[in-house]
Amino acid sequence: MSQVKQSRTNKVWWVWVVAGVGAAVFALAGTLLVGLLARTLPGAGFVSTVNYLLALDGNATWYVTRSAGVIAYLLLWFSTAWGLAVTSKVFDRVLHRAYTFDFHEYLSLLAIGFLVLHMVVLSGDQFMPYSIAQILVPFLSPYRPLWVGIGVIAFYLIVLVSVTFYLRRRIGMRTFRVIHLASFVAYLGATLHGLFSGTDSPLLATQLMYAGTFLVIVFLTSYWLLARRVKGVVKAGWASPR
Ligand code: HEM
Repeated sequence: MSQVKQSRTNKVWWVWVVAGVGAAVFALAGTLLVGLLARTLPGAGFVSTVNYLLALDGNATWYVTRSAGVIAYLLLWFSTAWGLAVTSKVFDRVLHRAYTFDFHEYLSLLAIGFLVLHMVVLSGDQFMPYSIAQILVPFLSPYRPLWVGIGVIAFYLIVLVSVTFYLRRRIGMRTFRVIHLASFVAYLGATLHGLFSGTDSPLLATQLMYAGTFLVIVFLTSYWLLARRVKGVVKAGWASPR
């Protein structure tokens, strides 16, 4: 390895170490602060302290689950849109494939992280605490069972698609691509779930968010299908005898 390459690798390594230690210290300090306040505020528990700190009118878990749901939806949308753009070779002239694939994968993992938060927080909800079964088994939700159930199924599909990303060599590219098609169903399910079970859905801004993001996916899917068709026609043209 050349000296320039070696020093660049060292630099990247140090940036990750500093960022990791910084994030750990930040998380620890935050947890200590909330813990300390929980002990010093008379009779306050962890959740009430977060309510107090963020002036959340006793609804901390509800705010957290809703915001985590919206962030997860946007990450899932971005990952789906990015994946469609990558397979349609939109970025091939400007970005390396290794980077675009890695980014697609990280977006999905980040979406799963926010989904876990979206689900776990429901178990501590003040008004409607969910049991583990109600969170994990589709259609058992005490609130809008159909639409929340669709969200649960979408979650499993996202996990399935993400796990097979790491099993590509074992299962083969063909099976991987077939399973990857489930991400369309997952995205559609997540959109229906958010739209029909969300408290924020009557808001114009939220409706515009769902409509805008959905239309981008419709456009990119049409582009992807067209690109595949053109590729098929060109291939057939090349293969046919002249
Ligand atoms: C792909 C998976 C999922 C995504 C992207 C997602 C996203 C969302 C979004 C965007 C909302 C609307 C938030 C609002 O407008 O206030 C929502 C609401 C909700 N989600 Fe999910 N969710 C998913 C899976 C789940 C799962 C597995 C559960 C487990 C039970 C769940 C339970 C709920 C509940 C109870 C609400 C209603 C919250 C409220 O507004 O009061 N979701 N979700």
